[in-house]
Amino acid sequence: MFVQVVIIGGGPSGLLLAAKLAARGIDVIVLEQRTRKYVLSRIRAGVLETGTVNQLVEIGAGKNLLQNGLKHNGVFIATDEDMFHIDFKESIDKQVTVYGQTEVTKDLYELLDRRNIPIIHEAKVEKILDHTSSRPTVVYENNGQTKSVQCEFVIGCDGFHGISNKIIKRNQENPYLIQLPYGWLGILSETPPVEDELIYSRSSMGFALASMRSKSLSRYYVQVPTGENVGNWSDARFWESFKLRIPKHVRSNLITGPSIEKSIAPLRSYVANTMQEGHLLLCGDAAHIVPPTGAKGLNLAASDVYYAHEALVSYFFNNQLDKINEYSNKALMRVWKSMRFSWWMTRMFHHDPNQNPFEEKIGESELNHLKDSKLMQSVFSDNYTGLPY
Ligand code: APR
Ligand code: PHB
Repeated sequence: MFVQVVIIGGGPSGLLLAAKLAARGIDVIVLEQRTRKYVLSRIRAGVLETGTVNQLVEIGAGKNLLQNGLKHNGVFIATDEDMFHIDFKESIDKQVTVYGQTEVTKDLYELLDRRNIPIIHEAKVEKILDHTSSRPTVVYENNGQTKSVQCEFVIGCDGFHGISNKIIKRNQENPYLIQLPYGWLGILSETPPVEDELIYSRSSMGFALASMRSKSLSRYYVQVPTGENVGNWSDARFWESFKLRIPKHVRSNLITGPSIEKSIAPLRSYVANTMQEGHLLLCGDAAHIVPPTGAKGLNLAASDVYYAHEALVSYFFNNQLDKINEYSNKALMRVWKSMRFSWWMTRMFHHDPNQNPFEEKIGESELNHLKDSKLMQSVFSDNYTGLPY
């Protein structure tokens, strides 16, 4: 079998790229190791930058998003008993859209189905051969059989634990990885959100975030030490811990309820040395992981897809490799800027057991600066709502 582009991974980056390439008449196939049900059961962040929204709308996957996404003009920043608002709309005339990644993935699957773009589920890629040549081959396992497909380009959209980033020699020894000594315990509950917009809280008990999926579905998080077991967290324990990390006036508005999902995510920062080698390109989590503070994961996946699409279109229509060879530098430039912002936000909001008292004070002071300076709020807004492509 031969197709022009094989995409490994049916997460948001693989699906969006497949839809965009197919719209230009480029022949693609998506290989996803899990079932669709499994992929759609993963709960991830839910804040979309304008660039992400625009790409989804342009490709035809924006109907639900435009109907049900919540437009937010800002966020709240809290400390133990204090809270202030950062207004993106007022400071830089921009907004974000709150809409779950699970919904984005669902909308993309529906689009691919409508356009008959092939996705093979339970197809686990085992090998990528000859990716430095112009005719790589992807070998995968499906229904107990080993199958292969030859192509002109392989796109690794297979996440941090996938196979693609490990094939690239320059990524095998990588200095750009930080594991943080804490994770986020998150719950989803069928209760109205405690505020109209998100609240990020730096409290003396540790970080907390109040987020949402809709007017009747809330997503809340608390910081927990690395290695914490979700089984040790009853709903009652979660709510008690969450309440201690938000100001009193917010606490009095909080409506609690049973969790319908509860999980712990580790926090790490990772950036690949390169996002391209020969005819293999990486997009999304395969190339970088951000801590969830600032919700940049999906948005970075979307900007990678934008650059990868541009490079592949130039290759297939103009027979030029220049944009392919520029892809990594172009994508990484934006990745590092978002990485920096997520790292800065993470350090400012979390209680880090390894930090010395001096560093603690610096974190506190950064937050005070953000509170008191309209300039800082504009810089925050610029980063949070999404830097230009
Ligand atoms: N063969 C086929 N599929 C694979 C393989 C493999 N060897 N390895 C991994 N996959 C699949 C996974 O099952 C997963 O569905 O690749 C997909 C990768 O999807 P995501 O992890 O969602 O990554 P991505 O599409 O880049 O999305 C980035 O997702 O993880 C969040 O924070 C991240 O929001 C960001 C977004
Ligand atoms: C979420 O809603 O899950 C969410 C929102 C903002 C973040 C991280 C996660 O920064």
